[in-house]
Amino acid sequence: MAVDTSTRKSAAAAPAPGKPAKRRSSVALKIFMAVTGFLLVAFLYVHMIGNLKIFFGAETFDHYAHWLRSIGTPLLPEAWYLYIQRAVLTVAVIGHIVAAVILTRRARQARPVKYAHRPKVQGSYAARTMRWGGVIILLFVIYHILDLTTLTLNPHGVTGEVYRNVAEDFAPSRWYVTLFYTLSIVAVGFHLRHGLWSAVRTLGLQSPRGELYARATALVLSVVLVVGYLSVPFAVLVGLVD
Ligand code: HEM
Repeated sequence: MAVDTSTRKSAAAAPAPGKPAKRRSSVALKIFMAVTGFLLVAFLYVHMIGNLKIFFGAETFDHYAHWLRSIGTPLLPEAWYLYIQRAVLTVAVIGHIVAAVILTRRARQARPVKYAHRPKVQGSYAARTMRWGGVIILLFVIYHILDLTTLTLNPHGVTGEVYRNVAEDFAPSRWYVTLFYTLSIVAVGFHLRHGLWSAVRTLGLQSPRGELYARATALVLSVVLVVGYLSVPFAVLVGLVD
């Protein structure tokens, strides 16, 4: 989630006298958002690469899902790695959202008098997109866990038969599920693109050339992620995976 700081740059750049601590803690919050965001992106990439194993067939994919449960054994009991990962991701998601809400409130308070004609500049548009994108992603993750982890909403829903669970999930007759996944994953792509770019800016890369590289890198990373994820439901839709 990003925070609309660009329309209020002058207010943020010149804090009221006696408020440097708040400004410092805003910088700390932005760094916290960047770090939690990075953790989430790392998970997204690893998960996307893992999903691509579906193209190697049912046996390979189910074996991969089984292997996920054995990470860390025998040092850790079976599936403990997954529980630790779930705890870390949950803390990262909650922390990311809370920091975004605090930063947005601060940015609003920094300008107590509203613009008479608020300019429709890119910053405010991006911030709105990030907020709604964030909400869509959160709803998607809840649905997705009920669909493919707890299997409550999955049409096949057999533990261990991960390939079949995915293939039945995106069967052509369930086109609306593929549509929902597509919209959500595109939202992930937009969120990631803006999030990566603003993280790089927060971390100090502000020369015009640096911004250009940051924008290009954010775009490429987001497109790769979206295409990687969407390749699975669309492969099922066209019969490449069945
Ligand atoms: C079409 C794209 C996707 C497919 C086919 C897919 C597939 C799966 C499958 C099969 C599982 C269960 C794994 C298992 O229990 O062995 C899973 C779990 C999960 N997926 Fe996805 N996924 C997709 C996209 C996403 C996206 C975009 C996100 C995040 C925004 C996401 C987040 C998760 C999470 C958090 C879990 C739970 C992991 C756990 O059990 O601890 N997935 N996914």
